[in-house]
Amino acid sequence: MAQATDETPATRPRRGESLEVEIDSLAFGGRGVARAGGYVVFVAGALPGDRVRAEVTKAKRRFAEARTVELLRPGADRVADRCIHGGEPCPGAPWQGLPYERQLVHKREQIDEALRRIGGLDDFELEETVPAIEEWRYRNKLEYSFGERDGEAILGFHARGRWDLIVPVEDCLLASEPGNAARNDVLGWARGESIPAYDRRARTGVLRNLVVREGRRTGQLQTRLVTAPASFPKPPVDLHTAIEGDSGGTDGPTGVLGEERLREELCGLRLEMSHDAFFQTNTEMAERLYAVAGEYAELSGERVFDLYCGIGTIGLTLAAGAGEVWGLEVVPGAIADAERNAERNGIANARFRAANARTGLRPLLEEAGRPDVVVLDPPRAGLSQKIVRRVLECEAKRIVYVSCNPTTLAPNAAQLVEAGYRLRRVRPVDMFPQTPHIECVALFERAA
Ligand SMILES: C[S@@+](CC[C@H](N)C(=O)[O-])C[C@H]1O[C@@H](n2cnc3c(N)ncnc32)[C@H](O)[C@@H]1O
Repeated sequence: MAQATDETPATRPRRGESLEVEIDSLAFGGRGVARAGGYVVFVAGALPGDRVRAEVTKAKRRFAEARTVELLRPGADRVADRCIHGGEPCPGAPWQGLPYERQLVHKREQIDEALRRIGGLDDFELEETVPAIEEWRYRNKLEYSFGERDGEAILGFHARGRWDLIVPVEDCLLASEPGNAARNDVLGWARGESIPAYDRRARTGVLRNLVVREGRRTGQLQTRLVTAPASFPKPPVDLHTAIEGDSGGTDGPTGVLGEERLREELCGLRLEMSHDAFFQTNTEMAERLYAVAGEYAELSGERVFDLYCGIGTIGLTLAAGAGEVWGLEVVPGAIADAERNAERNGIANARFRAANARTGLRPLLEEAGRPDVVVLDPPRAGLSQKIVRRVLECEAKRIVYVSCNPTTLAPNAAQLVEAGYRLRRVRPVDMFPQTPHIECVALFERAA
C-alpha cells in the first residue's frame, strides 16, 4: 500500500491507510497530534517528538484517527516503557513513555487550556499540582478480560483498539503484587478446570471478565468473576456475575461466594462498599483529593450538600467541620453503604438520599434547607445545564467542584460564573500516573 508522509499534499486519508507522521503535541484524552498532508491526525500510542508509522482507523472530513503500528524514532523525552504485556505497552498506562514530570506539566496545561478556551475564563488561580504518592502499583481496582490462546484460557487486557484480541498479563505494574497474584490464582483455577473463555464472535464459551479490588489499608482482596450463564465448578472468588447477551459490560445479577463487601480505611474512617458502588481507584490520592476539597470548603459548622456522593466519602470526611452533611447519589446500594459508613464511624450529622441529581436536588433543598457549601463530584460527563441551574437554586456561598474531566468542568464553570459565582482557585491532583486522566478541584465563591 502507498505510504503517506507529513509532506504529502492534502488528500483525505482513508481508513486502513498507513501514515508516517511526527507527533507535535498531546490532545485531550491523551492521543498524540500530528499533521499529515494538511489533516490533523490523532494518533493513539504516540507521544510528542515521536516519529511513528500509524494505521488510520477513522477518517473524517477535517481530521483522522490512527493507531501506532511502529515507533520509527522515539521523541527525545521518551523513557523506556516499564509495564509491558506480550511485547505491547500496557493499555492501562498509555503515557508511561513520558517522564512523570512531563505528565504533570501536560495535565496542568490541559486544565488551563480547557478553562480558558472552552470556558472562556481567565480570572482564576491555577495552583501547583499535587503529585501522586506512588507512580506505579497505585490502582485498587482492575478489570481483566478472558481470552484463549492455543486452546487454553488467558487473562489480561484488550489489545489497543481491539475488542477481539486479549494480551495476557503476568504482572501489571498498575496493580499491587497481591492483586496480580489474585488474578493469576483465578486463571490457574480456570485452566485446571478447562473452562473455556467466552467468544463474543461465536457467542460460545463461559469466562468473560475478572474484577480485582483491593482494600489498600485492610489488605483485603475481593475478586468478582463475570461469566456467561453456565454451570461449572464453584470458582475461588468472592462474587459471581452472570451476564446474558453481548453488552460487553461487567454489570449484572451477582451472587456472593465469599466476602460481599470491600473494607477500606480512608482519612481515618473505616469504610465498607458494595461491588457496584463507586470508589476512587487510587486510595492514597483520594485522601489528598478530599483534603483539598476540605481546604476549599473551609468549614466551621455549615450545612453541606455532597452531591454525587457515592458511598459518602467526601461528606463523611467533612462531617467533623460541618454542622450537617446531606449526601445525594443515584445508586441506592451506595447510599445504603454511606449510611452504614456514617454509623460505623459514629457520625451523627450526615444523612444520605438516593436520587438522581436532576430530580432529587429540589426535594433535598426543601427537606434540608439551603446549604452554605455544595460539593460536586460528577462522573466524566459533568453536569447538564439543567443540573447546574438546580445547583444555582441552592444559593450556596461556596461550591467545591471535584472534576475528573476539565473539558466538562469548563462549560459548567462558565455557567456558574455567568450566574454570579467567581472561579477562585483550581488545584490539579494527580490520581492516575502513566495515564492522560486528569483530576482537579475547583473553588467557586458567590459574590456577597
Ligand atoms: C466520580 S463518582 C464520585 C463519588 C464520590 N464522591 C467519591 O469520591 O467516591 C460520581 C458518582 O456519581 C453518581 N452519579 C452518576 N450520575 C448521577 C446522577 N445523575 N445523580 C446522582 N448521582 C449520580 C455515580 O453513581 C458515582 O457514585
